Amino acid sequence: MTHLFTPLKLREVELKNRIAVSPMCQYSSHDGFASEWHLVHLGSRAVGGAGLVMSEATGVSPEGRISIDDLGIWKDEHIAGLQKVTRFIREHNSVPGIQLAHAGRKASRSAPWNGDKVLKIEDACLPDRQGGWKMVAPGAIPFAETDPPPVALTMEGIEKVIHDFRDAAVRADKAGFLVAEIHAAHGYLIHEFLSPLCNQRTDDYGGSFENRIRLLIEVVENVRAVWPEKNPVIVRISCTDWAEGGWTLEESVALAGILKEKGVDLIDCSSGGAVPWQKIAIGPGYQVPFAEEVRKRAGILTGAVGLITTADQAESILANGQADLVSLAREFLRDPYFPLHAAVQLGADIDCPNQYLRAKWK
Ligand SMILES: Cc1cc2nc3c(=O)[nH]c(=O)nc-3n(C[C@H](O)[C@H](O)[C@H](O)COP(=O)(O)O)c2cc1C
Repeated sequence: MTHLFTPLKLREVELKNRIAVSPMCQYSSHDGFASEWHLVHLGSRAVGGAGLVMSEATGVSPEGRISIDDLGIWKDEHIAGLQKVTRFIREHNSVPGIQLAHAGRKASRSAPWNGDKVLKIEDACLPDRQGGWKMVAPGAIPFAETDPPPVALTMEGIEKVIHDFRDAAVRADKAGFLVAEIHAAHGYLIHEFLSPLCNQRTDDYGGSFENRIRLLIEVVENVRAVWPEKNPVIVRISCTDWAEGGWTLEESVALAGILKEKGVDLIDCSSGGAVPWQKIAIGPGYQVPFAEEVRKRAGILTGAVGLITTADQAESILANGQADLVSLAREFLRDPYFPLHAAVQLGADIDCPNQYLRAKWK
């Protein structure tokens, strides 16, 4: 029996294996609506054998989108399109997850292939699209010096963010998702509150560790309150800012312990994204030690992500007790059938759609 193809039970939701499609922005939505691209893209990875198929960062509010082309879940009208996607994923014996996100001071961008530039409010990006919007953040500190300064969130603004996450979770459940992941990584809004490099507030939401984690804790409490008890909540964090004076692994371990008590089921361990001057020590599996540390010291299930590209590598991460789940992003873009290929390589017998059964026999 391989570790990679051993099921993982999170509350009442069983993943048939330990392979997750990591959230990946597709820049293929108009006004937040899921398109046929999402059905084919996410559906293919379910057919390819992933145990968990996560959606891209999905905006809990229009101003919370990274780009104007992001997927959204800020209105009820978004539900029907997402239902088509989740139905297909579930029909193929995989589990659909949604990453609930607010981009904070890294919002209002164009898609990478449209220049990845900050859209000014007056910009008309494409003929049928709106331009940019005012970004919100813990304070008026821009991500890059050349970016327009974001607007510091007022207490009312913070309350709106929390309610937006809660309402989005209600819609995500109606849309058929079984796993909710709160995006608290990569320099987006929640991470901006966590990191002292982005958060210089002097009120209850800034300064001490307890104050900086407050927004995330309140978001988790509100999401957990409406998310079905039987379904898991995951939080993605950046375990380090890779920058002096920034968020640390020690803080991640402490946070993970608190999140566990709040009903979070797994920590998805990523890193970086808070500041442009970060110095990342990149290499195969470079974030795996974070997942291992959080898992061992906080006693919570973890997901490893980042330059995991082979079946053997994924298998050994699990076998060595470094993580409970492995998420792949770019490898899944190259190979939607990564799990099927990994099963052949590791000698595991896995289910495969009837239409593709002939592929199992030479
Ligand atoms: C095209 C693309 C889009 C991404 N979008 C997201 C996203 O929406 N949310 C997120 O948390 N990470 C996002 N990421 C980061 C991935 O989920 C992953 O953490 C990162 O790429 C490292 O994994 P990899 O080495 O397997 O690609 C994205 C990565 C890529 C390549």
